[in-house]
Amino acid sequence: MALMLENPKLLSLAAGFTDNRTLPVAAVQAAVEKLAAQSGEPQYLQYGTNQGRPGLRTLLAERLLAQEPELKGDADTIRHNFFITNGSQQALYLAMQVLCDPGDIVLVDRPSYFVFLEMLTGLGVQARSLPLDSAGRVDGEALRLLLAGMRTSGEMTRLKAVYFVSYFANPSARSLDEEEKNAVAKALTAEGIVVPVLEDAAYRELYYETPHPARSVLSLPEWAEFPRLYLSTLTKPFASGLKVGYGTCTDTALLAKMMHVRGHHDFGTANFTQAILEQVLADGGLDKQLAVIRPAYLRKMQVLHGALIEAGLPELGWRWKVPGGGLYLWLEAPADFDTGLDSAFCRACVEAGVLYVPGELCFGDAVPRNFVRLSFGVLGEKDLAEAGRRFVAVARRLA
Ligand SMILES: Cc1ncc(COP(=O)(O)O)c(C=O)c1O
Repeated sequence: MALMLENPKLLSLAAGFTDNRTLPVAAVQAAVEKLAAQSGEPQYLQYGTNQGRPGLRTLLAERLLAQEPELKGDADTIRHNFFITNGSQQALYLAMQVLCDPGDIVLVDRPSYFVFLEMLTGLGVQARSLPLDSAGRVDGEALRLLLAGMRTSGEMTRLKAVYFVSYFANPSARSLDEEEKNAVAKALTAEGIVVPVLEDAAYRELYYETPHPARSVLSLPEWAEFPRLYLSTLTKPFASGLKVGYGTCTDTALLAKMMHVRGHHDFGTANFTQAILEQVLADGGLDKQLAVIRPAYLRKMQVLHGALIEAGLPELGWRWKVPGGGLYLWLEAPADFDTGLDSAFCRACVEAGVLYVPGELCFGDAVPRNFVRLSFGVLGEKDLAEAGRRFVAVARRLA
């Protein structure tokens, strides 16, 4: 951000911001007008509660239950334990604060959401990557070996949670299939370990054309015996500036502890922003907004992807997959090409006026230095194409 302010000509493919041009101004205006026109006391301008506005919680819980009809048996717990936070980031923090002490260990996906990894570092908690097979999928057998090794080395008592971003992930844009999620549960079960799982579904609704079919840990039988915390957000699919996230927890005691800490943070998300979103959801405004942004992000992804191809990045040995949702392209450079924060490539990109997120920030351990996250959320199409060209020109010069 500081670099951007110093040089307004810099084009940022780094910030995970959403698209300004499609933000839902009219829907927010309509919701505010409806609230202001209500008769009676304006309770939406009053403090709310720790767990969040009942009306918004109900609407979001019903939306989740409609997405996962198999949840029927647990539906009442899902509804009762539904909560609202200041973005899902706050919920991640509350969970880690409650579950972990310095020196503890959390299993994370590989790569993983770098702000979560930074948070672990800040709390003195170690990240340990879920092992992958040669196809890049979670490897259950290798995980069993990792867990057995942790038992032998005495680390097992410090393992406190599992975390993964499972739909159109940040940064990889990858989605986990049910087999992969189940492989994690089976490996833990085989080793006799029951720790809470945090499923981060921040981008679940941000598919371009088809939703990812995998059920969440909430309805997969393999996870039934584990405390499950499911987190998502309205920032990505609706308005990041309202900063409202949500989640539900199958473990009432865990939720109670999180809400206790939450009371120390802020005792509740702003009632007014929650009331706006409640009105928007009741009016069908979230689905209308999704119908606008899904094709818009598809188009933006195609523009950046197309610019990288056209400028010849694959010929330089770089590889990436075309995502089916989310805000990111996850690029793998040739093994010996250094993209790290202090690399010549990173400096040359800044000089050429383009920013990216070095992939090295996105790994909990055994950190490779040849990955890059590009975000196409915020720039317009013309700038995306120009940023792509600048990026490839530098990659070519340093190849
Ligand atoms: C994977 C993931 N989880 C959680 C968050 C937090 O989002 P928010 O706090 O805006 O809901 C983000 C934001 O970029 C994210 O990428």
